[in-house]
Amino acid sequence: MKGTPLGTPLSPDFSTKPYAVYTGDALETVSDLAAGGIKFDCVVTSPPYFHQRKYGEDGKEIGQEKGKNGVNLFIETLVTIFKAIPVNPWANLWINIGNKRGPDGTLMGVPSRFVIGMQDAGFYLMDDVVWAKEVVLVDGTTVGHCMIEPANGRLNGNGWEPFYRFVINPKRAWSDTCAVRIPRDAAHFFHEGTINPVEQHPYSDEMGCVTSLEGRNTTNVWHVGTSRKGKNHFAAYSEELVERPIAMTCPQWITENGPRERVLEQVVYSEGARKSKRIFGQYSLVDSGQHTEESLQKKSGRMDSARHYISRYPRTKGWTHEDKPATSGIVLDPFGGTGTTGAVAIRLGRRFIGIDLYQDVTERMEKRCQDEWEKRQPEPSQQIERSDSSERAATN
Ligand SMILES: C[S@@+](CC[C@H](N)C(=O)[O-])C[C@H]1O[C@@H](n2cnc3c(N)ncnc32)[C@H](O)[C@@H]1O
Repeated sequence: MKGTPLGTPLSPDFSTKPYAVYTGDALETVSDLAAGGIKFDCVVTSPPYFHQRKYGEDGKEIGQEKGKNGVNLFIETLVTIFKAIPVNPWANLWINIGNKRGPDGTLMGVPSRFVIGMQDAGFYLMDDVVWAKEVVLVDGTTVGHCMIEPANGRLNGNGWEPFYRFVINPKRAWSDTCAVRIPRDAAHFFHEGTINPVEQHPYSDEMGCVTSLEGRNTTNVWHVGTSRKGKNHFAAYSEELVERPIAMTCPQWITENGPRERVLEQVVYSEGARKSKRIFGQYSLVDSGQHTEESLQKKSGRMDSARHYISRYPRTKGWTHEDKPATSGIVLDPFGGTGTTGAVAIRLGRRFIGIDLYQDVTERMEKRCQDEWEKRQPEPSQQIERSDSSERAATN
C-alpha cells in the first residue's frame, strides 16, 4: 500500500506445518506479507479496543491514540491496516470491536464509526452479528454472564459486542451457510411421506457449536460465553465465537479454478401429522376446512401469494472441482493475541497466519498453534501404516 513502510518481503513456509506466527506491527508485517505475494482468504480478528487496555510499552501499540482526535486516528489506523491486507476476491473479514464511553459517560459509537470508515474505504458490510454474552429474559433470569460495569443512570453496556463481516466483492464473497445451520427438531423432520427421521450431520465433530448441514438458517445473534483460556492476557475471545466465521466463510479447499462450492439439492420433507403444509406459519388450517387461502391472507395482512409453504432442507451432493487438486484456505489474525483464531483455523483444517506486536504474546500463540497441530497428527502406528500403503501404491 502507498506510504506504508516496506521491510523484507515475507513468504510463510507451509511445507511442514499449516501456520506461521510473526512478531511485529500489524501494518508493517501485513505490508511485508503482501510484498511476499501471499493472498488471504479470510481475516478473523479482535483489534485492541480504544483506550481499553495497555498490552505493553511499544509506541506502535494501537488503541492508545491521544488527544481530541484520538478516536478518529484509531479508526483510521485500523482501516489502513485492513486495506493493506492482500486478499483474494472471495475473501471475508470478520472484526470484533467494542465500544467506549467518554469522560462524561456517554457512548462514543466506536463500532459505528469503524463500520463507516470501512465502508468509505471500499469494504461492504455483509453481516453484523451480535455476540451476546449475557441476555436478560422477561422473567428476570439471565443466560450467560458479563463483566460488571459501574452503571449509574444507564445500563450495563457489557452484555454484547458486535462482530462484523466485511467483504470486498459481495458477488464473489465465498460462503458455505450450511456450516452454521441450526439442527431441526427431530420430532418434526421426516423423509417425505414417512415417519422415518432425516439424519442430520454436524459440520465438523471438532466444533464446540452444534450445527446441522440439513438444519435451518441461523440468525445473527449468537450467545457465546467469554473465553476461559485467556490466562495472563486480558482480552482473549472464545473459540466458539470464531468457529462459525471460519467454517462458514474460509474455503476449506481452493483449486486452480477457485474455492470448491458445496453442491446442494433441496429435498422436500414431512413435519409429521397435521404439519405437512403451512400457510403463514399456520398448519393445515386450509386442509381442515377452517380457513381459505384468501381468509388467511386477509388475517395475516400479507399481500403475497398465500401459497402453501413447502418444507425443504438442503442435502449435500458433493463439491465443485472435486477432481482438481486443492490447498486449504488461509486465515489471518493481524492482532493474534493468545492464538484463539489460529487454534480454531488449524482444528478446522485451514492454514493460519498470526501477528502480534509483543514477543511473549506471539510465543504463546505459536505454542497454542503447535499444540493444536500436534493433536491433529496421526499416531506413529498410523503413520507407519500410511507410509506402507503409499509405498505399495508407488510400486503398484
Ligand atoms: C484484543 S487483543 C486480541 C486477543 C485475541 N483475539 C485472543 O483471543 O487472544 C489485541 C492484540 O493486539 C495486539 N496489538 C496491539 N497493537 C498492535 C500492533 N500495532 N500490531 C500488532 N498487534 C498489536 C495486542 O498485543 C493484543 O494482543
